[in-house]
Amino acid sequence: MTNAEIVELTHKHLVNIYGCLPLAFVEGRGPYLIDADGNRYLDFFCGLAVTSLGHCHPAVVNAIKSQAEKLIHVSNVFHTEPGARLVERLSGLFNGAKVFLANSGAEVNEAAIKLARHWGADHGGRFEIIAMHNSFHGRTMATLSATGQEKYHHGFEPMLPGVALVNFDDIEAVEAAVNQRTAAVLVEPIQGEGGVVIAKTADYLGRLRQLCDRNNLLLMFDEVQVGVGRTGKLFAHEHFGVRPDVMTLAKALGGGLPIGAMLARPEVAATLTPGTHGTTFGGNPVACAAALAVLDTIEKERVLENAAAIGNYLMEELRTIAKSSSRIVEVRGQGMIIGVVLKDEARPVVDACLKQHLILNATAGNVLRLLPPLNLTLEQAQEGMAIIRRALAA
Ligand SMILES: Cc1ncc(COP(=O)(O)O)c(C=O)c1O
Repeated sequence: MTNAEIVELTHKHLVNIYGCLPLAFVEGRGPYLIDADGNRYLDFFCGLAVTSLGHCHPAVVNAIKSQAEKLIHVSNVFHTEPGARLVERLSGLFNGAKVFLANSGAEVNEAAIKLARHWGADHGGRFEIIAMHNSFHGRTMATLSATGQEKYHHGFEPMLPGVALVNFDDIEAVEAAVNQRTAAVLVEPIQGEGGVVIAKTADYLGRLRQLCDRNNLLLMFDEVQVGVGRTGKLFAHEHFGVRPDVMTLAKALGGGLPIGAMLARPEVAATLTPGTHGTTFGGNPVACAAALAVLDTIEKERVLENAAAIGNYLMEELRTIAKSSSRIVEVRGQGMIIGVVLKDEARPVVDACLKQHLILNATAGNVLRLLPPLNLTLEQAQEGMAIIRRALAA
């Protein structure tokens, strides 16, 4: 089938919720994608921060193949070795946490919200969660309610009660929102969909930690987009030296297969007991095998060091362009999550890049977002920068 045929067939039958570009991909290798008409693209989008090791990394493909040939699904009524090994691995990476496995970012954030409610119920009948404006936590009703962007709420109101939204980067606002019903604070260490926003308040996350400790609240970090190496450290919170009580991961964890993980301090996780929560597919052995291969590869191939170095290179290049471009307001980011804040809409720049076969995306209207593979080489980074330079100059 050609691009046009695949696009037409999809649109005939798919619920019309995605602003899809008229492209269908048939193959991926490292940072490159091939469309159905045989064109090659450089991918600085990674399927929305998912294929962080590039497309079809051999270690991930082999792990998936060999597990799929043995066993694909048994449900959480039973155990599997990849599931056991993955929870051990994640726990070891996050301070001996207890792990809940699910299939997406929304699902693990939903689990975190339910965990906070259950824990709050055990601690004085508290249920309220403080979340941030400009955040993104998912599309289920609870995660949507904690997502502080009205455009996503529209038509789905009323939102779930028990969520208080306050401005990101404003400690006083959180302080003012705390009351005897508050159970937890939910925050992205760096806001991704909101436009790659890093708090400017000195030690913002550290002060949130102190505030939570003073008021006996859970501090919950949504690392669905920024976790698993995206920022040049395995977890984004490592940059800030602040440890949450609960952390959620998804996207890059499975190397392209759907998997999410909620990690919680054992004393906190203990509030959830048999029957209180669950999912049929969570901990699927093929997805777990893929996640183990992702974590192994990040270590073996020194992926974090590369992400930090190439991310710095890209940001420096973009800042150099910004000096002579009236179009760029600010370049911000950490490692391989980079936002170029433009004066106007970012979409025309995305389209101009796409015409030259570079894939990236726009978020928050005027932010050009780069989410390249963490193992991008300098030559590939230069190839992408040459296209971005031309697109910004156009
Ligand atoms: C920070 C954050 N949390 C949660 C989600 C939702 O993840 P999913 O689309 O896998 O449900 C996203 C998706 O972009 C995200 O960026």
